[in-house]
Amino acid sequence: MEWSPGRQQTIRLCVNSHDIERTVEARQSLADFLREGLRLTGTHIGCEQGACGACTVLMDGAAVRSCLLLAVQSNGATITTVEGLAQGNRLHALQEAFHKLHGLQCGFCTPGILLTALALLREQPHPTETAVREALGGNFCRCTGYQAIVEAVLHGIATSRGR
Ligand code: FES
Ligand code: FES
Repeated sequence: MEWSPGRQQTIRLCVNSHDIERTVEARQSLADFLREGLRLTGTHIGCEQGACGACTVLMDGAAVRSCLLLAVQSNGATITTVEGLAQGNRLHALQEAFHKLHGLQCGFCTPGILLTALALLREQPHPTETAVREALGGNFCRCTGYQAIVEAVLHGIATSRGR
């Protein structure tokens, strides 16, 4: 599909296992499209400059900053947001670990951190603490001091059985 500024374009993508077709403004960010177009408000927007990681989602399995992408760039892609982690009433192992080990306080950073951790889990099923800290280096948290987050990620990965 050709990109053309200032116009509406139709995109087709898969979001959290649902096939979706929408017409979007060519200049709308992926973060705004997820939040406003699809009402998936678990994707948080902090800086809108690629610095904080709050808007992280998975695109074709890779952790990306949805504030830096245009919705039209997701055409044909598979997107996972935090709303896609649980299966029915069953939380993902990473979510259970954050709950059990108090890996969050206000929770603003948590969706982005969970998606970053999920990408790490799929790349490295047995990461070291150092690898977890490196992976989370672009996800800012103003509340926790990170120790509980790192422990929750390590526990969640260990109990996830690769999912
Ligand atoms: S809102 Fe996207 S990186 Fe901060
Ligand atoms: S828990 Fe508040 S910003 Fe991380």
